[in-house]
Amino acid sequence: MDLLIVGSGFFGLTIAERAASAGRKVTVIDRRTHIGGNAYSENEPETGIEVHRYGAHLFHTSNPAVWQYVNRFTTFTDYVHRVYTNHKGVVYPLPINLGTINQFFAAAYSPEQARALIQAQAGEFDAKDAANLEEKGIALIGRPLYEAFIRDYTAKQWQTDPKNLPAEVISRLPVRYTYDNRYFNDTWEGLPTDGYTAWIERMADHPNIDVKLDTDFFDETQPLHKTATVGQLPIVYTGPIDRYFDDAEGALSWRTLDFEEEVVPVGDFQGTPVMNYADADVPYTRIHEFRHFHPERADRYPSDKSVIMREYSRFATREDEPYYPVNTAEDRAGLLAYRELAKGERDVLFGGRLGTYQYLDMHMAIGSALSMWNNQLADQTGS
Ligand code: FDA
Repeated sequence: MDLLIVGSGFFGLTIAERAASAGRKVTVIDRRTHIGGNAYSENEPETGIEVHRYGAHLFHTSNPAVWQYVNRFTTFTDYVHRVYTNHKGVVYPLPINLGTINQFFAAAYSPEQARALIQAQAGEFDAKDAANLEEKGIALIGRPLYEAFIRDYTAKQWQTDPKNLPAEVISRLPVRYTYDNRYFNDTWEGLPTDGYTAWIERMADHPNIDVKLDTDFFDETQPLHKTATVGQLPIVYTGPIDRYFDDAEGALSWRTLDFEEEVVPVGDFQGTPVMNYADADVPYTRIHEFRHFHPERADRYPSDKSVIMREYSRFATREDEPYYPVNTAEDRAGLLAYRELAKGERDVLFGGRLGTYQYLDMHMAIGSALSMWNNQLADQTGS
């Protein structure tokens, strides 16, 4: 074996695929029972509808190298992501745009009129002096829109009143003064035609790649554990950076999500893939309806059943899946200390969203793995 990779998410698999194609023998271990990390999906058994197991995953990128690379393993549908939100029983388009504004104020403002209105409403606070998330939100979009669409949704995401959240949690709240409600602005967007798992399996399908599932790097009863391997061969580690160092600098904090899946006896539950729930009286943040991610599969999916998933957000404990870095000042200090420790680890590179403690979209995880391969691994002896 020339390289050990801990974690079979997009970061680990991209390194594995590049290394294998360059002639190296690679072993990928993952503690889960499947490859693909959080992008993993599977067909719900009763309906055959593809469900993204760890939350909805929409692929989008403006990076030509990443787009070219991913197209080696899958084609993409022409899916374009749009999100709606339910506020007090009325549905509005997101991100906040001229359609949202005119519906909310029951008006027909021109772009210029809407801009002037929001600017006047936003004058209540100055964004640079905002003492907390609430003041920052109001400074960015004004109180009426903030209270309707941001305040309670944010409180549900963080289980914290936005008055008690730091202003830095939001840097901007995009408002579009057109009716464009395309969620992403990237050059390329779509979903893998035959699903995420088919894409992921093609990346791992190489005679030089050996995948071992149900294998935890910290489990000393399995042969490829940390103490047996570090210093013996190059390692790319994509698990949590604090866990690698036994929380020596404190545990970094994460938010997690709980998903409640249900097969409902209707062919179409909500008419769209994602419906946010903006208000405090609904405990979940959003409902996904998976059939709508693939309208082109309508003839394969049942017409009398659908799969929905309610999403709840909360702070993660050690036992939960870490999803979004909380990134408090304490976390940032801890991360800097872990980065220093990481520099001292011979032949171990830290990558991916857990290994670097940052939220990465799939295209960013793949892009940063390609950079790591090109800059730090490709020229090592053994290729
Ligand atoms: P990832 O977490 O996928 O993989 C890490 C792997 O390491 C896991 O399989 C884990 O089991 C394994 N591992 C950890 N510790 C280990 C140990 N001790 N031993 C062995 N294995 C270990 N992106 C996007 O572009 N569009 C989107 O719509 C979304 N949506 C989205 C929703 C939610 C809820 C989340 C949390 C994330 C997204 N993402 C996303 C981001 C996407 O999931 C992310 O870019 C990739 O998961 C990053 O891949 P990594 O390989 O870095 O991590």
